[in-house]
Amino acid sequence: MTPPSAATADSKGRLLVIGATGFIGRFMAEASTESGRPTYVLVRPGSCFSPTKADAVKSLKEKGAIVVEGLMNDTDLMEKILKEHKIEIVISVVGGKAIMDQIALVEAIRAVGTVKRFLPSEFGHDIDRAGPVEPGLQMYIEKRKIRRMIEEYRVPYTYICCNSVASWPYYDNTHPSEVLPPLDQFQIYGDGSVKAGSDIGKFTVKVADDVRTLNTSVHFRPACNLYNMNELATLWEKKIGRTLPRVTISEGDLLDIAACNPPNDIPRSIVASFTHDIFIKGCQTNFMIDGPNDVEVGDLYPEETFRTLDECFNDFAVMMKKPMVFCSK
Ligand SMILES: NC(=O)c1ccc[n+]([C@@H]2O[C@H](COP(=O)([O-])OP(=O)(O)OC[C@H]3O[C@@H](n4cnc5c(N)ncnc54)[C@H](OP(=O)(O)O)[C@@H]3O)[C@@H](O)[C@H]2O)c1
Repeated sequence: MTPPSAATADSKGRLLVIGATGFIGRFMAEASTESGRPTYVLVRPGSCFSPTKADAVKSLKEKGAIVVEGLMNDTDLMEKILKEHKIEIVISVVGGKAIMDQIALVEAIRAVGTVKRFLPSEFGHDIDRAGPVEPGLQMYIEKRKIRRMIEEYRVPYTYICCNSVASWPYYDNTHPSEVLPPLDQFQIYGDGSVKAGSDIGKFTVKVADDVRTLNTSVHFRPACNLYNMNELATLWEKKIGRTLPRVTISEGDLLDIAACNPPNDIPRSIVASFTHDIFIKGCQTNFMIDGPNDVEVGDLYPEETFRTLDECFNDFAVMMKKPMVFCSK
């Protein structure tokens, strides 16, 4: 795809994605290029050394993204990039370990004063409302510090609270990009009745220049994707055509795992604390979206449909059937 023309660039502000080689970042960069918006991606120097990252960068370039090299935690460089490329929207999608690196970025955004919207790396729960136990809480404390800095500096913002992003819920894995639904047994958290649920790239890019989302938190709670653990298990059983045993992981089990392992022993620490917050405390659904600065994405775009979990599970079933067909030959 050829990069957007200057005319398009004038009508749609330039958008910079920081963390575009990451799990959530790729969805953002792809959705932005697909929307025809001039899309810049900040890539850390040396990304070409990893074949996976190099492939991700190549693919984004082919889709029309303009690659800029640099580190977000270099305020002077970020100021230069924001000014030189006349960036109007910044979406940060850096991972959990780099949340505080955003301090330098926020300083740069304040200094240039021309960024119309900043979306910090959130993309999960409403971190002012949710309260996981430690060690997961530490990440929320850091994300909250970035929120307070943005608000103090009067940087125009939108916080994306998209809840769980489609994959199988887990407490014992490092990253959602690696988790498929089970074929042996279900682990049901608590009694499995607490609901968790969520389409992110497309809607994040839409809200990024929507006047209705200026200085708000945008919540993703599409009714079609609101499932509890038991309902998820039943949906998956229908796709694979058989029932699987259910093993209960109690609240105490999750708290023990979170407390008894050092914070850097991921997943057996941080991920367990998030799972506890989601499936035992119900942090994704235990509050009303009725604050003055809260908006639900479905209310903003009632004409848009969400990809359903049912459809995602169809894809998983096809993906997981392929090797079995191969083996039976
Ligand atoms: N709701 C959910 O289910 C869910 C799931 C996962 C994540 N999340 C949230 O989504 C956000 C992104 O997480 P993720 O898992 O997608 O992250 P990730 O896969 O770890 O990717 C992080 C990205 O940030 C880049 N990066 C890190 N430090 C940087 C720096 N100083 N300067 C420039 N780039 C830098 C990385 O570059 P390299 O490629 O060079 O390493 C990578 O592209 C986090 O806030 C996380 O909490 C939510």
